[in-house]
Amino acid sequence: MRILAPSLLGADFKHMEQEIRAVEKAGAQYIHLDVMDGAFVPSISFGMPVIASLRSCTERVFDVHMMVEKPERYIDDIRACGADIICVHAEACIHLDSVISRIKASGARAGVALNPATPIHVLEQILPQVDMVLIMTVNPGFGGQSFIPYTLEKVRALRTWCDSLGLTMDIEVDGGISAANVRPVLEAGANVIVAGSAVFKGDAYENARELMELLREYER
Ligand code: DX5
Ligand code: ZN
Repeated sequence: MRILAPSLLGADFKHMEQEIRAVEKAGAQYIHLDVMDGAFVPSISFGMPVIASLRSCTERVFDVHMMVEKPERYIDDIRACGADIICVHAEACIHLDSVISRIKASGARAGVALNPATPIHVLEQILPQVDMVLIMTVNPGFGGQSFIPYTLEKVRALRTWCDSLGLTMDIEVDGGISAANVRPVLEAGANVIVAGSAVFKGDAYENARELMELLREYER
């Protein structure tokens, strides 16, 4: 299934509820929430209280992207705030195996994110335990950056690798994705598409609807 995960980092924070309604109405299945700690990435975004408050606005899947150091400190709290998927960066975890186990024990689905320069083979031992791999298509930290072309090859190689192991893995891509460049990403094997500025700059409903239409083409 091809899934649209609008990133609220690109939304108007004064009107979060309306922004969520707009993408919901357009058919987006996930809401992507970017938690930044000012240490793993330079910027600071939002955390537990904001996620908990937004939880009451929607029943869509909350896909929480943890751009924080030692994310294991927050797993239970983020889950309690309503995260359905908790995605941690491999680069931020010394004990990735135990972090994944703890995410699963919390009842959330476990995602592992890789920065553009991190090779996919770091997942070699852990791949069967993971529910989703997030291939960063920009360096994490800010919305509105340009897609890094070489990351497309990582998506393709990961999909081929998962297929060879018989793993029906969700592969998410995040950063610089828009209606103009989403096709090659889908063709490479990504099935969860994060989009921040491409959705929330301008008419969020129209932008999300256009992306959803493109995603549906690949279901046929
Ligand atoms: C960036 C975040 C993204 C960001 C994407 O580090 O992880 O989710 O919001 O924004 P766009 O789609 O504008 O690149
Ligand atoms: Zn993100």
